[in-house]
Amino acid sequence: MRLLVLGGTTGLSGRVAVEAVGRGHDVVCAARGRSGAVPDRARLIPVDRDEPGAVAVLVGERFDAVVDVATGALGWVRAVLDVLAGEGPDAPHWTFVSSVNVYADVATPGQGVDAPLVPAVDDPRHLAPEELTIETYGGTKVASEQAVRDRVGDGRALIVRPGIISGPGDVMDRFGYWAARFARGGRTVIPDAPDQPIQHVDVRDLAAWLVTAAETRTAGVFDAVGPVLRLGDVLSAMAATVGAGDLELVPMSEEALTGAGVQPWGGPASLPLWLPTGYTGLAAHDPEPAAAAGLAGRSLTDVALTALADERARGMDRTRKAGLTLDEERTLLDGGRLT
Ligand SMILES: NC(=O)c1ccc[n+]([C@@H]2O[C@H](COP(=O)([O-])OP(=O)(O)OC[C@H]3O[C@@H](n4cnc5c(N)ncnc54)[C@H](OP(=O)(O)O)[C@@H]3O)[C@@H](O)[C@H]2O)c1
Repeated sequence: MRLLVLGGTTGLSGRVAVEAVGRGHDVVCAARGRSGAVPDRARLIPVDRDEPGAVAVLVGERFDAVVDVATGALGWVRAVLDVLAGEGPDAPHWTFVSSVNVYADVATPGQGVDAPLVPAVDDPRHLAPEELTIETYGGTKVASEQAVRDRVGDGRALIVRPGIISGPGDVMDRFGYWAARFARGGRTVIPDAPDQPIQHVDVRDLAAWLVTAAETRTAGVFDAVGPVLRLGDVLSAMAATVGAGDLELVPMSEEALTGAGVQPWGGPASLPLWLPTGYTGLAAHDPEPAAAAGLAGRSLTDVALTALADERARGMDRTRKAGLTLDEERTLLDGGRLT
């Protein structure tokens, strides 16, 4: 199979490239090459999708499958569809990686892919990080999904909507926060929300599934989520696997965390994976259709050990995209408020 990965230098798209090369496929990555290198035996076509007409370098290339992970950039999605979507039996299978943030209802558990979506944001610009809110992130994913389905057709379009992606190279720094924090030990703030649902999919499992889907030309819309777990069980299992001997978990209530200015889910000054009341449906989507279509999972022990090894490789003291700093955590433990 000749596969085009739009990206391929980091994160999920990088792992898709690794997986496909490992299976002997001919892999071409189109990216700037700033976030990292493409895997050995993959070819990088340097492309800056922010440059108008940049994807014209792909004109005349033929691919069996395309994987696009564009975020907040509907114009990028349309531009590459214009060049490569094609028609007929030789036209490529097309995967677009979306998100569970497309769903309008974040409270109700057990929703499937037919649940109502947030309004599409029909803005072709590449949104700057500060413009990417919950609404614009989800809304541009909705518009991008629709652009792919309109252009490629439901017979060869695969739309996948992950929730939390765990595993090595976590670009959002969410799962790894807990492995790193527990390994450091001492008094550690956790959300007092043991029954909160949580789902994750390991990047290696998701990438393997996407490559198989391209090989088999699997089409459809799937929530790319793992089984619904209890947050308390996930944190306990991670603490038991990688926690330092002096680790002491200090549960804090939703009221206390919110009052102290702690953010949920991810990003700066957050407790990653924690969801306040009214938002827990975000991590409780129906995992069965993806599992039936071949999306595999792995043990929390594996996830915790891999996350810790990855944290150590990337630097335990680096500036993180998600979680509390040690100073912020100390402020909370002293009863203070984050500024
Ligand atoms: N992480 C999660 O927990 C999570 C949850 C839900 C959904 N998702 C979705 O999953 C996907 C994650 O994919 P990922 O991890 O591969 O994404 P990513 O880390 O955002 O990587 C994006 C790729 O795009 C390339 N790129 C960035 N700017 C570019 C430009 N101007 N021109 C050309 N290429 C450019 C990057 O390469 P260069 O920098 O080298 O150009 C990189 O290879 C996204 O669609 C995200 O929305 C993630």
